This record gives sequence, structure tokens and C-alpha cells, in this order.
Amino acid sequence: MNITTRNLTHTDFAVEVIGVTLDDVHKEGVQRRLQYLWLKHQVLLFKNLDTENEQRLAGLSKVFGRLEIHSRIEYLSNQVPELLYISNVKEGDRKIGALGDGEAGWHTDQTYRPTPALGSLLAAHVIPPEGGNTSFADMYRAYDALPEELKHRISGLKAVHSYEHFNEQYSEPSNSKQKADGTVQTHPVVRTHPITGRKSIYCPKSVVPYIVGLSPQDSQALLEEIHERSFRPEFVYEHKWNLGDGVLWDNAAAMHRRDTWDPAYPRLMKRTTIRPPEDLAVPF
Ligand SMILES: [Fe+2]
Repeated sequence: MNITTRNLTHTDFAVEVIGVTLDDVHKEGVQRRLQYLWLKHQVLLFKNLDTENEQRLAGLSKVFGRLEIHSRIEYLSNQVPELLYISNVKEGDRKIGALGDGEAGWHTDQTYRPTPALGSLLAAHVIPPEGGNTSFADMYRAYDALPEELKHRISGLKAVHSYEHFNEQYSEPSNSKQKADGTVQTHPVVRTHPITGRKSIYCPKSVVPYIVGLSPQDSQALLEEIHERSFRPEFVYEHKWNLGDGVLWDNAAAMHRRDTWDPAYPRLMKRTTIRPPEDLAVPF
């Protein structure tokens, strides 16, 4: 099997993976190749997935780690609970998915937890004719491009990550399970990737209300400085979805956000949540 890639960005941050189908992902050689690609690139696009077949979506995700059943239990797939629905679709009065039809600001997944997801796969099952694009920002290169003085200033700092801070802007309040599990956590502003050892900015704009140990004014000023440098166009890949697209990203090295779309149109995305190796799960 010849698995190749095509760059989607001027760097190799985001690539399309060519030459693999879901029939092949149980093969050890294919798995090794995909795992390698995921560490080399931070966003992988798979085209023409059968998103009806949820076991297969879970199977592709399992190549990259153990799957977590997301704590938004009200929006899990009935067939395969490792899949979380992200959708504005309603069945009667019941929403079937998280986030509705609004914007979701820059974040990485589950950083309000002590051991956040390392990876996520998002697959397009129903999409509107336009809008609802998802953008990814390269936190390795954003970090590498920081002035040395700023790298020095943020070294060793920690930031508070609050799910409610995100929810107040973009979603609905945490459910009781999430509240019981905890929705506030502190993580380093600069993260070392648990597997590659590369450093990245780990300070998601929509989730971090403040940096620990600074005055509110100094914290706000530093956050603005970091964010202005994190989301520059040269670090961002904007993905316009086609049906059957599946995008897998590395939450330790990439942030993501999404746009709104005309709420008259349904959109249903299916997402898995990939755990880090347990002994490397706490961000450092
Ligand atoms: Fe997300």
C-alpha cells in the first residue's frame, strides 16, 4: 500500500492523506504509517469516509489511541457511544448534538480537564451548502516564531482553562456529569508535546480567562499579545467541508475554531475523542 500526502498549507501543518481506506486501517503497517503521519503533521484530512458506518469511524480513530466516551453524554451516538454528535439538528424538542449553529472560538478539546484529549477526529455527515468551516492554527510554528524575549517571559507560566468561560461565549452550561468531573484546570502556557517533544503555545483564547500570578491588567495584556501571534494567517488552515471528509488533529499542537452558517440548514458532524498515553497525559 502506498500512502502519500498532499499539503493543504504552505507548510506541512495540514495534509490530505491519500491511498488509505477504512478497509485497511486494521493492518499494522497502515497503522504505523498513519501514526507517523499524525506526529509529523498536525492535521490529517481523510476524504470520502463512509460516515454512516460509525464503527468504522471509531476504528480509524483507534489507530491513534484509546477512545474516550465524551462527558456531553446527552449528545452521544446511540450506536457507538465513542462518537459525539456536533449538530444543530433537533428531533422534536431534543437537540441531537452539541454547539448548535453558532461560532465556536479558538480552543483545543477538553483543556478544562486534568488530562485533555490528545486527538480528535471530526467527520462531516450532513453539511450546509456554505459556512460552518473549521479552521486550525499551528501552535508549533506560532511558538517557534515568537520573539525570544516573549518565549522567555511566558516560560514557566500557567493559565487557567475554564469550560464555563468557553460555554458562556459559545455553548450551553456544563451538564451535571461535567460539573462533577471538573470544569476548571491549570496548564502550562507553553506545552511540550508528549511524544514529539516539540514546544507549542497552549493558551486557547476562548477557554483561558487569565494567567496565574499576574494582575488582571497584566494577564489581559499578555493574553492579547500571545493570541495576536497565535492566529496569524500564515499559521491557519481553513477547511471547507465536503461530505465524507474526516479531519484528525493533534490537540497538543493545533487549535481550532469554526464559523457559523445559515441556521436553516442542518449540519451534523461526528467526533471521536482520543486519549493520550496515560503516563504522558498531564500537559507539561
Ligand atoms: Fe473542539
